[in-house]
Amino acid sequence: MLPAVKDYRDLARRRLSRFAFDYLDGGAEDGQALARNLAAFERVLFSPRILRDVAEVDAGVEVFGRRQAMPMLVGPTGLNGLYWPRAEEVLARAAHAAGVPFVLSTASTSLIEDVRAASDGELWLQLYVQQDRRIAQDMMRRARAAGFTTLMLTVDTVVHGKRDHDVRNGFRLPVPITPRLAADLLRHPRWCLRMLRQGGAPRLVNLARSAGLGTGLAAQAAAMSRQMDRSLAWSDVAWLRAHWAGPVVVKGVLSVEDVREARRQGLDGVVLSNHGGRQLGSAPSALELLPEAVAAAGPLALFVDGGVRRGSDIAKARALGATAVLLGRAPLYGLAARGPAGVAEVLALLRDEFEITLRLLGQTRAQDLDARALRPDSLERLRGL
Ligand code: GLV
Repeated sequence: MLPAVKDYRDLARRRLSRFAFDYLDGGAEDGQALARNLAAFERVLFSPRILRDVAEVDAGVEVFGRRQAMPMLVGPTGLNGLYWPRAEEVLARAAHAAGVPFVLSTASTSLIEDVRAASDGELWLQLYVQQDRRIAQDMMRRARAAGFTTLMLTVDTVVHGKRDHDVRNGFRLPVPITPRLAADLLRHPRWCLRMLRQGGAPRLVNLARSAGLGTGLAAQAAAMSRQMDRSLAWSDVAWLRAHWAGPVVVKGVLSVEDVREARRQGLDGVVLSNHGGRQLGSAPSALELLPEAVAAAGPLALFVDGGVRRGSDIAKARALGATAVLLGRAPLYGLAARGPAGVAEVLALLRDEFEITLRLLGQTRAQDLDARALRPDSLERLRGL
């Protein structure tokens, strides 16, 4: 096991082709939101207590009535097949072994049915709604049939964020073979071989199946070109409820007013998220919104993502009132660096760091972490970000 998530990032950078690493690692515009996500965690300071018998600690928490091993989920990310073949199957298995749910993206490169077959663990579906609503309906139907428990509707991606690195690298789907890309590939023969063994560039098979398209390159391009439904609105919550019996969570909330609206609409939870700093360049980080959002959320589950690189970050989020965090890049760095072993290592590392933090805080139960574990001026420090 490497010492920290950042070491997996360094290794991933060496192992992946340039365009794939940039897609994984980069943020929108000048990377301000991405930097802010990381800086927000640094602002929060702990207030440890001593001599409190921390021989036994319990990292577990309850989310929607189910116990999980710790307050984190492996969150939804698209196009994971760029980093390792059958990536979502690997991620789902590793999440299950770590005792936490896995959220499968609409833009996954493995099928819902194959992810289910790969893991007996708890699975959630992240949903993008495209103009032809039958696609989302079919995806929900397939996920229901596969025993997925929870629906996570992502709402911050009506258009793609402005990502200069993807433009610079000429990265789009299907991946065009330009001289620049060919040079990039030649520098990463092992990665190329892995991609070739899985049958070439990864495809958005899930979307293609629900759209009734084949899995060829042309079909993939067609699936991609179908636009997000930009008319999606709060009034569509009823439509979602008609197709999903379990908890429904909305992801991509960045204002307290929208937390209140989610509550009025009877949703079960929200994910405060700036999409890993990949959409609006000048977005606040989820963590800095969290203290205000807690008051507005009432009984809603409150998830945050963006910038979680340490187990201590998970403790900070929980102490500020989050139900749990979603991990995006961290497990993907592990995947790209070392495949299935790398994902397992990153999740184990976060678990170790989380338990170390609990003990050093004098806290025996993750479920009980609250603002008392933080220096009172942490909120002002966050506000001053
Ligand atoms: C897609 O959701 C992305 O952030 O690339």
